[in-house]
This record gives sequence, structure tokens and C-alpha cells, in this order.
Amino acid sequence: MTPDLLQQGAQRVAEHAKLLSQATESGGRSAGYGRVVQDASQVDVTHGRILYLEDVSVSFDGFKAINKLSLDIAPGELRCIIGPNGAGKTTMMDIITGKTRPDEGSVFFGSTIDLLRHNEPEIAQLGIGRKFQKPTVFEHLTVFENLELALKTNKGVKASMFFKLDSTQSDRLAEVLHTIHLEGSVSTLAGVLSHGQKQWLEIGMLLMQDPKLLLLDEPVAGMTDHETERTAELFLTLKGKHSLMVVEHDMSFIRTISDIVTVLCDGSVLAQGTLDQVQSDERVIEVYLGR
Ligand SMILES: Nc1ncnc2c1ncn2[C@@H]1O[C@H](COP(=O)(O)OP(=O)(O)O)[C@@H](O)[C@H]1O
Ligand SMILES: [Mg+2]
Repeated sequence: MTPDLLQQGAQRVAEHAKLLSQATESGGRSAGYGRVVQDASQVDVTHGRILYLEDVSVSFDGFKAINKLSLDIAPGELRCIIGPNGAGKTTMMDIITGKTRPDEGSVFFGSTIDLLRHNEPEIAQLGIGRKFQKPTVFEHLTVFENLELALKTNKGVKASMFFKLDSTQSDRLAEVLHTIHLEGSVSTLAGVLSHGQKQWLEIGMLLMQDPKLLLLDEPVAGMTDHETERTAELFLTLKGKHSLMVVEHDMSFIRTISDIVTVLCDGSVLAQGTLDQVQSDERVIEVYLGR
């Protein structure tokens, strides 16, 4: 690439970095003053739990979307969440990530970090990454630039323009490219990737921050069978290194990746166990799987 092109690229990345930081600063719980945000490496999992929800409820205009929900996840676990539309799956993720504040209950990250005391950007910084249903990559940036951008969301425009990856970050970027199967598309504009590749790129952007916990909402919706299979492989490689919470309707995908499956219904846990256990549960068949 010529210096001119590089400069233009840097400018585009910087502009997007600015947009990104504005987007995250706007929503969610308001930031408090003088609050110390702990480093993600400080998450205390000595009690064997990386995420812990107890008796969480939230109502929207009198309707209880989440109703006395209790659930916990072990470090390195890949937990699948299933349940009918409107069960509260997305709302649960909104609560964990600070987008929605519950009316009551506790939400802890490890045994010491009270997530209800933090806002959205702080929670992301603590090491909780979230993948929404729709891919939200920057279409006019290359695969490389999108991944690079994921490291600079906290920097100002000027800092972003002169930002250079250090060797640890370059290694991380190469490792992530490999993990998400996009090594061959480094210079491709994200806009021309397939739907599945865009989803992987967005997961890659989350991985650049090395999150402790990843929340993925219907990650294989709209993917081809082949893309779905590759996504299952990807998740199985992430398991252990990260904790994952995966919401999906695709039962063969769930079968491939799941250990424990939690069934949500009417805002609380209806059943939990292996996929075979929950699939043979009469109540689950009644409300979700059908006869
Ligand atoms: N911001 C909101 N305002 C009003 N109602 C909402 C809001 N978010 C979710 N709901 C309602 O809460 C219920 C649970 O929604 P959701 O969490 O999206 O379910 P799921 O992801 O399991 O399909 C639904 O009835 C939905 O309409
Ligand atoms: Mg949903």
C-alpha cells in the first residue's frame, strides 16, 4: 500500500473509532464518579462461578419480562440458552451487559464484581463481550482494519490515527484471524464478506479484547449449513479459554456444542440439564419444542 492509502485508511479507522466510542457511551446505566473499574484479570472465580444471577426481575409497563431469574455459569463453560420467543433471553443479556437495569435481584461477575454498579462501557471493559443478532461490522473497512479498530475504542481520534499495534497486539490479531477463519481475507472490505464471515469477524472483534465472558445472541441465524458447522467448531475452540453464553434456536447446532442447556420461559428457568434431558422434559415440550 502507498503511504497515501495508509493515511486514508488510518483516517477512516479513526473516524469509525470515534463513532464507536460515542455509541457505547450513550446508552445504559449512567457512569458514576470516582468508580474504579477493575481489570478483567481480577475477576474472582475462586467460588467456581464467573457469572451469577439471583432472583432477577424486570418489568416493562407492568409486564414481567424477567421473573425471579437465577442462573450461574462456571469459568470456561459453554452454556446454551433456549426457549420460546419472548422468554426473556435477550433481556437477560441486556441486564448482564448493563443495557437494562433490573428492578430487583443480584448480578455478579465472579464473586466480587457487582455488575449492577457498572454501566455498559465499564462492563465491556471488565471483560464481558456481547454479540448482537445482526452483524455490526464496519462495511467500508477491511477485515484487518475492523480487528484493529476493536483495540482502540477508548482512544480519541488523534490517538487512533497514530495508533500502531505493538507486537503482542499483532500476534493477537494474527491468532484471531486464524481462529475466525479469515486469514485469507485480511484486505477484503467487510461489506463484501458473506453473512457468516461477517458474524465471525464480529466475534473476532470481540476476541481482540480477550473477554472473559462472551454473550452470543442467535449467532447462526441466517447462516448456511456449512457456516453453521464452522461456527460450532469455532465455539468449541473458544470454550475453556473463555466462558460463553449462547442463545440459539437451531437444535442441531445446540446438540453439537452443548454441555448444559438452560431453558428459559416467561422470564425464568423452566428446566436445565443436558439437551437430551431438557428435550424429554414434558414442560419443555409443551412450551417450546412441541409434540
Ligand atoms: N425495552 C423493552 N420495552 C418493552 N418490552 C420489552 C423490552 N424489551 C423486551 N420486552 C419484552 O420482554 C419480553 C421478552 O423479550 P426478549 O428478551 O426479547 O425475549 P427473547 O429474546 O427470549 O425472544 C417480550 O415480551 C418483549 O416484548
Ligand atoms: Mg431475543
